[in-house]
Amino acid sequence: MQLSIIVPTYNEAPNVAELVRRVADAVRGMDAEVIFVDDSTDATPDVIAEVAASSTLPVRLIHRDEAVGGLGGAVVEGMKAAACDICIVMDGDLQHPPEEIPALFGRFGVEDADVVVASRYMERGSAKGLADRTRVWVSKLSTLLTRAMFPIRLRGISDPMTGFFLVDRTRIDLAGLRPRGFKILLEILARKSLRVVEIPFQFADRFAGESKASVRQGINFLVQLTGLRFGKMSLFAAIGALGAVLNLVIMWALIQLGMNYIPAAIIGAEVTIIGNFVLQERFVFQDMTGEASGVWSRFAKSFTFNNVEAIVRIPVIALLVNTWHISSVIAAGITLAVAFVVRFMFHSLIVYAP
Ligand code: GDD
Ligand code: MN
Repeated sequence: MQLSIIVPTYNEAPNVAELVRRVADAVRGMDAEVIFVDDSTDATPDVIAEVAASSTLPVRLIHRDEAVGGLGGAVVEGMKAAACDICIVMDGDLQHPPEEIPALFGRFGVEDADVVVASRYMERGSAKGLADRTRVWVSKLSTLLTRAMFPIRLRGISDPMTGFFLVDRTRIDLAGLRPRGFKILLEILARKSLRVVEIPFQFADRFAGESKASVRQGINFLVQLTGLRFGKMSLFAAIGALGAVLNLVIMWALIQLGMNYIPAAIIGAEVTIIGNFVLQERFVFQDMTGEASGVWSRFAKSFTFNNVEAIVRIPVIALLVNTWHISSVIAAGITLAVAFVVRFMFHSLIVYAP
């Protein structure tokens, strides 16, 4: 067999027959199978069994009584059960056009890659099937955040959270995956350094039914992210915290020596910014300095960013206090938290960019 196509399904009864019909058309002439890994509570498994009986393409059904790991867990289970090492993962609602299967497979053959990603976010791709505006922004922002957190592993990958991809299961550590909900590709890409190529595709509208994405999936995703990437971001945070303490100590010492508190605060802040930069270079981004611009250019970007951030925060605090009527301490806390995330993204994606 040449190809196993894995389709996780949760209550997709009205989509299954059309999906199998279009997949069968797309892979005509190839030796392929479809594996549904189903956690449905509706009639989906019966429909799959019916479709399987009349389809020329081999169709298998794995029905799980306990949806361990959700969508991602289903995908891993499908990959374990596949007859073939080359697996394509796609959704069961036809948002992933089956007609792209030959392109994914063909690209794999040409490039000898470990993973071929079907991307919504590269040229000639499109995410227009994302149901609403909020979803589009959540998707774009979480993609940006994720790429900032894994700047090396995800370098050059425009859509690390797509649900449509090809993977050679012998090149990944299936047993080491800890799937948790929707972002199974991220789990695969973040755990091991792989050769990845992308092709564009147009994320279509759902054929029938509604998305199973939810706030709970969003929380799953954040937990997955921190679990995968406790490294860089937490070190960055620890250095930031150390810097804050250093800042206050310097300020206190200078005031003790008789200096006015304003210059003392400025000197404290600037020394901290420089100290943080040195520590970041050494402990957080040390593996990225080789390919990035020279150290003085990195310093200039980092130094400028931190000063602009410090200045911009002041009117933002005033704005929050005046418009939302929250206490100034809470407003300052909010700006510090947001500034931390933005600062991390800026350093990861811009200061240390290759
Ligand atoms: N077995 C199983 N178990 N399948 C599930 C589960 C589950 O708990 N939850 C969802 N699925 C199936 C759905 O039935 C569908 O076939 C597929 O997974 C995708 O679910 P959708 O509900 O259609 O997700 P979406 O369209 O909102 O999200 C898609 O795009 C995201 C990126 O924006 C998916 O491809 C996501 O994986 C992707 O991250
Ligand atoms: Mn969908």
